[in-house]
Amino acid sequence: MEPRSRDTRSALSDVASGQREGAAGPATGRALVLEPVLRRAPSQHAAERTPAEKLDEAVGLARGIDLDVAQAGVVTLNAARPATLLGKGKVDEIAGVLRTLEAGIVVVDGALTPVQQRNLEQAWNAKVIDRTGLILEIFGRRARTREGALQVEHAHLTYQKSRLVRTWTHLERQRGGFGFLGGPGETQLEADRRMIEERLAKIDSELAKVKRTRALHRESRRRVPYPIVALVGYTNAGKSTLFNRMTQARVLSADMLFATLDPTLRALDLPHGNRIILSDTVGFISDLPTMLVAAFRATLEEVIEADVILHVRDVSHDETEAQSHDVRRVLGELGIEASDPRLIEVWNKIDRLDSNERMRVFNLAERSSDRHPQVTVSALTGEGIDRLVIAIEERLAKKRQMLHVSLDPSDGAGLSWLYRHSEVLSREMKEDGRLAVNVRADAKNAELVKHKYPEAIEDKPD
Ligand code: GTP
Repeated sequence: MEPRSRDTRSALSDVASGQREGAAGPATGRALVLEPVLRRAPSQHAAERTPAEKLDEAVGLARGIDLDVAQAGVVTLNAARPATLLGKGKVDEIAGVLRTLEAGIVVVDGALTPVQQRNLEQAWNAKVIDRTGLILEIFGRRARTREGALQVEHAHLTYQKSRLVRTWTHLERQRGGFGFLGGPGETQLEADRRMIEERLAKIDSELAKVKRTRALHRESRRRVPYPIVALVGYTNAGKSTLFNRMTQARVLSADMLFATLDPTLRALDLPHGNRIILSDTVGFISDLPTMLVAAFRATLEEVIEADVILHVRDVSHDETEAQSHDVRRVLGELGIEASDPRLIEVWNKIDRLDSNERMRVFNLAERSSDRHPQVTVSALTGEGIDRLVIAIEERLAKKRQMLHVSLDPSDGAGLSWLYRHSEVLSREMKEDGRLAVNVRADAKNAELVKHKYPEAIEDKPD
């Protein structure tokens, strides 16, 4: 094993000094994290992570599920062994490391076949989790909607079903995850399989129900004339913190409508009177296991329809570029290109930068073009949130159209309809006895106004 020396987040130094990790919360186990790398790996793209960076990410993810990471290292392989992935020498060496560390969990940041997993568990007398398992656990804990939770559980059970060769697989849910870690030992293969199948069938029918409700919600939201501002970003970038920060002072009582149905949606008023709906999404992650792609996509449908997309980035992170690349790639797959005028990059966690870095990042953001704004903020301290709000308002203003509608003064219903579907800027009685109403509306509502009042005259967008 080649331990990492550069990384300050690597737990190796802590082992040396006898400290334990995981002070932030109760650890679910003492773990070793391994990054297997084939010696003759194909050449890397510039934006792709190096093994060391991948290991850093895996350590971060392992800590994200409360593992007490005792040690982490890159393991170089000449070839992948079908039975154990690693060669016998490495397997034995690691068994020794595990005994010294008294670690009972090994995270292998790669794909393991069920057989490899079982053999390694036997050789190491430890639980072994591969990358898919790790990510499933994370998604399980972080699923923010009922649908998300169901989708992840579905993916997790499917994964477990394929691995019913192990000795410790079981179906108990623990600690908010899906019972991946810990729990009583013996598998009753048949019983487990049956339980999994029954549960999968139940999830399928629940999912169908949730989807129907979701479609209804979306429909009712479409009828609300408020633009949707969606937060996207790599896991841990600070989306939820920003979501809470932005909604803190401005949550509306009308919000309850959404809050009870979906905790990821909040209505709020921006200073210049724009009412928006802020939508939080699940965090992105590199190399998303295929099983989770569907679950992930479902939560991202909101983004495709959003009026403004905030791409939240942790600019204090060493891998901020690689993370951003991953996010942009997934957005691209959803049809949202880098040049999409709805995008605003939010450079978060500037409070963690030293003064030089801060200056550099501020200058870069300052130079960003109007078409691709980049806003520096700290969701934690609140710095820059006002700049972000202005940037959102500017984006929204760009999308809106001015329309002049002429009404019969007695048409009170028509006027109140306009108030509900657009921003009424002025009303004036004309000499011809008609009421001239100037309104501003986003593209969606402008269409509605034009449909209802085909004679409405349109201004160029402001
Ligand atoms: P996922 O749920 O994985 O998608 O993460 P997220 O993007 O919602 O991140 P979250 O808001 O949970 O924040 C992750 C961690 O970063 C938390 O410990 C936050 O307290 C911290 N954090 C968020 N914003 C800031 C910031 O501006 N500065 C600092 N120093 N920490 C921050």
